[in-house]
Amino acid sequence: MSIRRNRPLRGAIVGFGNVAVEGHLPTWTADRHFAIQAICDADPARLAHAEQALPSARRYAVLDEMLEHERLDFVDVATPPASHPSIVQAIAEHNVHVLCEKPLALTTDACNKIRAASHQAGVVVFTVHNWKYAPIIRTAKRVLRRGELGPLTELRLDTLRTAPPGGAADADWRLDPSVAGGGVFVDHGWHALYLALHLLDATPVAITARLSQRKFTSTSAEDTAECTIEFPGAVATIFLTWAAEARSNSGSITGARGSLTLADRTLTVACPGREPTETAFAQPLSAGSYHADWFTAMVEDFREEILAPTTRGDNFREAETTSRLIELGYRSHAAGGVRVPFDEPLPPAEPSGD
Ligand SMILES: NC(=O)c1ccc[n+]([C@@H]2O[C@H](COP(=O)([O-])OP(=O)(O)OC[C@H]3O[C@@H](n4cnc5c(N)ncnc54)[C@H](O)[C@@H]3O)[C@@H](O)[C@H]2O)c1
Repeated sequence: MSIRRNRPLRGAIVGFGNVAVEGHLPTWTADRHFAIQAICDADPARLAHAEQALPSARRYAVLDEMLEHERLDFVDVATPPASHPSIVQAIAEHNVHVLCEKPLALTTDACNKIRAASHQAGVVVFTVHNWKYAPIIRTAKRVLRRGELGPLTELRLDTLRTAPPGGAADADWRLDPSVAGGGVFVDHGWHALYLALHLLDATPVAITARLSQRKFTSTSAEDTAECTIEFPGAVATIFLTWAAEARSNSGSITGARGSLTLADRTLTVACPGREPTETAFAQPLSAGSYHADWFTAMVEDFREEILAPTTRGDNFREAETTSRLIELGYRSHAAGGVRVPFDEPLPPAEPSGD
């Protein structure tokens, strides 16, 4: 399916909740390369909101009906996590490109099925990795690319929240693993894991994870996760919690010749023998949950994958690796926090949430 560059891509949204409205719609309505012509949501109240927010879009309660009736280039999937694999597969099987909110899937088995469906149809499945487009992360990555820190040895990323973000349709779904696929390890962990892969630019060797409940104890979802990922020559430590006293994002990256510190809105680069440099950014990393400006920057890469098939692959591989790390992290925790090699053979897993 080849598409002319000079016409807008015809899109639809499935799941018209908070992230679709606050994080995606501002881009879809402002960017002339895209035209959203339909919206699907299972909740009539959200469809009523869609009528207000984007009156020109046709509205559907059922995805299959939308896929049957609309001529689409892509669908933006913004439903809760456990529904993503089946929705993504259904869209790909209609020969339509997919932009999927994180997480794409939570098992290697589900990723394999999505890969097969997208290859069969020749369509893009692109997972939202918007934190890579945060200005402070882009600047940090430029410092690392210049090699100023030397070979990297350590990375640490901390995400502290006082509670899970609320969903528009069901405020509690993030604490229900049958809908969310897990707890904080899935919700914020997905971002932290692909950022670790991106910043270290390496393939994981093993993961060790310990999950706990410190504040939200009424469900089986973990509200706190601590994990260590080994890479050749480097170790990443990730800490995530919904049980913090205050909200923040911070981190550090250490190399043989220097270090870099991320403290919400401030990036500091320190190399021995030189004055440290400090850059302050307009927005702290922890500000808001939807980051429309990061999404705006990211969709250009999605569009490019659609228009130029030779650019495809990196985003999907990153999502596969992230998904596998989460699957292995849960296995590590279930076995008492043991080290699990990244290439450990896995039997086909149960669908997430079971
Ligand atoms: N990348 C980010 O920074 C970021 C930020 C927030 C949320 N997210 C992700 O976005 C997704 C949605 O999160 P949210 O906060 O918008 O949730 P939400 O609850 O506000 O919205 C989800 C919407 O999907 C609808 N829905 C559920 N199942 C459906 C189905 N089968 N068919 C059609 N509609 C269906 C619901 O009615 C609801 O309107 C999640 O996967 C979440 O992890 C990502």
